[in-house]
Amino acid sequence: MMRHFLRDDDLTPAEQAEVLELAATMKSAPFEHRPLEGPQTVAMVFDKPTLRTQASFAAGVAELGGFPMVVDGRLAGIGERESVADVARILGRQASVIAWRTFAQADLEQMAEHSGVPVVNALTDDFHPCQLLADLMTIREHKPELAGLTATFFGDGACNMGNSWLLAGATAGMHVRISAPEGYTPPQEVFDRAREIGEQTGGTATWVEDPREAAEGSDVVITDTWVSMGKEEEAAARTEVFAPYAVTQALFETAKPDAIAMHCLPAYRGKEIAAEVLDGIQSVVWDEAENRRHAQKAVLAWLLAKAGAGE
Ligand code: NVA
Repeated sequence: MMRHFLRDDDLTPAEQAEVLELAATMKSAPFEHRPLEGPQTVAMVFDKPTLRTQASFAAGVAELGGFPMVVDGRLAGIGERESVADVARILGRQASVIAWRTFAQADLEQMAEHSGVPVVNALTDDFHPCQLLADLMTIREHKPELAGLTATFFGDGACNMGNSWLLAGATAGMHVRISAPEGYTPPQEVFDRAREIGEQTGGTATWVEDPREAAEGSDVVITDTWVSMGKEEEAAARTEVFAPYAVTQALFETAKPDAIAMHCLPAYRGKEIAAEVLDGIQSVVWDEAENRRHAQKAVLAWLLAKAGAGE
């Protein structure tokens, strides 16, 4: 069965650890791993805005010896001009891997069903697993081990980052807290899945409504924009409802003294995160952005090795 990376729990705990190890190895020698030599093509399809994802996939694919092909989803008219299944068949004949940033997780699953090549989630409304690999890799660079750490996500828990933190954090054996107002927490099935994974890894998944209580004892303080792509019309209401969850310097100081601050970017200073936290010495946001490249290289190489081995 072809392996894909559509959501964080597509990797078992052992596989996630293997990919993170490979990412660290690749980072230490960025030009020495060339599994895409040929070059093989990686199709990167974007239905939503992008900076880090396009730049890090393009640079990473080039470092792997491959060719990064960018497809503008709006020009292609995926789901309108032609069906997702037909786009999958077309791109699967041109590329060795397809990375897709789109809205519906169900569409990504359909792409994987019909592509004949591995498909990677480059962000959907529901999950952002490449970001989580980069985030876990970054934490490993600053803390002795992932398992047992407390990572707290503040703000819109119902967005892709909240969901991905629950699944990827639980897979790594972390204690993930979501601090969000009622109505903006991840869906129950994502909590249930994270808790199921946690039974194997020792990880936990909890909702802590009060932001100060949530920050206490946190090793990692995470936030994301309050207005995810596609939610722009709700901007005013969201700014009001999430205001108590802003990662201010005072909230950050409630966490452990050696806590690190994370944000997948783009960040809105003075909204979800204070400039002094984002630009402060305990912020690792630029490492996270760089590590997208290394983590994605690792997942691409890992998926292609599995496909080559017929696994
Ligand atoms: N939750 C954000 C993540 C951006 C990388 C969004 O979906 O817009």
